[in-house]
Amino acid sequence: MQSPARGARPTSRRCVVTGAAGFIGSRLCDRLSRDGWTVLGIDGYTDSYDQAEKLLRAARLTRTPGVCMVAGDLVTLDLPRLLAGSEVVFHLAGRAGVRASFTQEARYVHDNVTATERLLRAGQQAGIRRVVYASSSSVYGDGRTPFTEDDEPAPISPYGRTKLEAEKRCLAATSTGLEAVALRYFTVYGPGQRPDMGLRIFAEAALSGRPITLLGDGTQRRDFTYVDDIVTATILAADAPASGLAINVGGGASVSLLDVLDLLRGMTAGELTVEVHPQARGDVRVTEANLRRARDLLGFTAQTPFRVGFTNEVSWVRDRLAGLEVLSA
Ligand SMILES: NC(=O)c1ccc[n+]([C@@H]2O[C@H](COP(=O)([O-])OP(=O)(O)OC[C@H]3O[C@@H](n4cnc5c(N)ncnc54)[C@H](O)[C@@H]3O)[C@@H](O)[C@H]2O)c1
Repeated sequence: MQSPARGARPTSRRCVVTGAAGFIGSRLCDRLSRDGWTVLGIDGYTDSYDQAEKLLRAARLTRTPGVCMVAGDLVTLDLPRLLAGSEVVFHLAGRAGVRASFTQEARYVHDNVTATERLLRAGQQAGIRRVVYASSSSVYGDGRTPFTEDDEPAPISPYGRTKLEAEKRCLAATSTGLEAVALRYFTVYGPGQRPDMGLRIFAEAALSGRPITLLGDGTQRRDFTYVDDIVTATILAADAPASGLAINVGGGASVSLLDVLDLLRGMTAGELTVEVHPQARGDVRVTEANLRRARDLLGFTAQTPFRVGFTNEVSWVRDRLAGLEVLSA
């Protein structure tokens, strides 16, 4: 394990990023580094998907100015020591993905709830000022859209339930003086996206000439949010004049899977073979964020139109299939 002090920038703000080797966490570390922060990144390289992807991102981050990586499970690491001296914790570590949560619930509880509880206790001991938690639109379930933060959460998967439980614990921790904000991310996409996520699976199939498996009739809609917009909102949350609240972070437009396939057809200049299967368990029909709170409290509005962001992701998938190391894209 490297010393947390290594790579420190003497006059800069110090933070911890959990899940730093993940899709979003690694991108967040990049931006924090560019903004001049000193970052301690923690990741347990869990078996949620190919560990090689996470290790490659971590290897790149160890060469990134101001970033130091520590490997380990949040449930067993000496967190009070690791957190000491930091001002903010961006807590992105977790087990993501709806479908696998029906068969691996214990792992979801471990990575989402137990890990968060330990982190909060350590944050209080270490004198952390604020925790920014990566929650999820999955806490809403299949409710009426647009989802508003005051709606009663009604998750329909173990994933959504564990994210909601962790979110509640973060917000309850404010009674001890810790500041906390839970950002409810809406389907995040872009270069580096997790391999279990729909847009990447579609793009990989299309570019490899394989049939695309569509679960449901394709009219499901998602408020897709580009990863760099998510990173912007996450950093804004470190200093937002709000605590003890959940805040939606969405891309601002709801796009159907049929729209996605049309765009993909245009980008790959070929016929797509689409095989339709029944809708997956835990999949909701529509997600759409009410973004008033994000605008008023974070000063955040997404900047990336879906067409632009998806083009970037498809280019990244194309490069990756061609064997180029582009996880840092
Ligand atoms: N990607 C999305 O669309 C999306 C949407 C809503 C919420 N989120 C949340 O955002 C966060 C990041 O998502 P992502 O897509 O980057 O996922 P990811 O799986 O790529 O990243 C999560 C990282 O956390 C690490 N991790 C998990 N459990 C850990 C533990 N106990 N100790 C240490 N490290 C651990 C994993 O190894 C992984 O690298 C997650 O908490 C997820 O629930 C993501």
